[in-house]
Amino acid sequence: MSLLALEWDDAAADGHGALRLLDQTVLPDRTEHLDVRTVDALVDAIVSLAVRGAPALGVAGALGVVVAMDQAEREGWDAARLDAEVDRVRHARPTAVNLAWGVDQVRPLMDRGRDAVLAAARQVAADDEAANRELSRLGADWLLARVGRERLRVLTHCNAGVLATSAWGTALGVVRELHARGAVELVHVDETRPLLQGSRLTAYELVEEGIPHVVQVDSAAASTILRGLVDCAVVGADRIAANGDVANKVGTLGVALACREARIPLLVAAPWSTVDLSLPDGTGIEIEERPGEEVTELAGRRTAPVSSPGFNPAFDVTPARLVTAVTTERGVVEPAAGVGPGDLDRQS
Ligand code: MRU
Repeated sequence: MSLLALEWDDAAADGHGALRLLDQTVLPDRTEHLDVRTVDALVDAIVSLAVRGAPALGVAGALGVVVAMDQAEREGWDAARLDAEVDRVRHARPTAVNLAWGVDQVRPLMDRGRDAVLAAARQVAADDEAANRELSRLGADWLLARVGRERLRVLTHCNAGVLATSAWGTALGVVRELHARGAVELVHVDETRPLLQGSRLTAYELVEEGIPHVVQVDSAAASTILRGLVDCAVVGADRIAANGDVANKVGTLGVALACREARIPLLVAAPWSTVDLSLPDGTGIEIEERPGEEVTELAGRRTAPVSSPGFNPAFDVTPARLVTAVTTERGVVEPAAGVGPGDLDRQS
């Protein structure tokens, strides 16, 4: 697939270079790119979800340091201003740990100059792709062994594909790996209200890949699972605590509860950069609250009474006891059985 969520383009801006983002707010209707050259533009792009998905945010954070350094050079910022602007990128969204992680990967190199930071940021992107391919291979092996069917019916929520990463995808990477092995019967795609990452982005990727799928409303997920229409659910993650509690797009918790009731596995797929071992469990994860209008309006038109405020938590936390397995590039752990990512880290 030739889709690419983000990259550094040296040729942009008359050869000065820019962070080139595929604008995910207008997909799948239009394919438009944003050439980002200022911290304001990058923070806007992150907040509006032009670039989104935890691993892609990690790369955006790393490349964002280059954006800030280039702007500092053009506008003559002092060191304190540059530091404050890098912090604005780091904190643009709170839940996905990858954003701060990506900034922190390259920030210590700022003394060596922007080319050293750019090289390191490009390495963050390359490492993310390698991690996604490996965790997908491990996750596919685990699922096939666990489910015991040759061709799987999979439910997924939100978008955890190419568009959410530097390349390949995480949860959708597992699906792509299964498809390459001839092991996908059908994917049930939750539309993912309110911003429709499932129907706009995941379905778009599945069409590109020729993977059979249907799009369903989020509220169909529980009955799809309990009616035995799927064999497993595979989702991504925005932050995973040491015990295996998982923050992911709001609605994931309901999927997890239904999976437990139906006794089918819930596999979480994420690179190690999404694991936050500083948190023993998910109670410390900050859940982003987005504008209520995203819920009370549809395509810019008010659907709820004007006096009804919206409530819009963008993520939820699924407790480890509902997470059958987590696949990262380091291996597969089984939080519901009491083995969280913290245990994997102690083994390595
Ligand atoms: O608000 P978003 O679109 O950034 O939320 C993204 C998700 O919740 C994804 O499922 C998660 O980041 C995993 S992406 C590989």
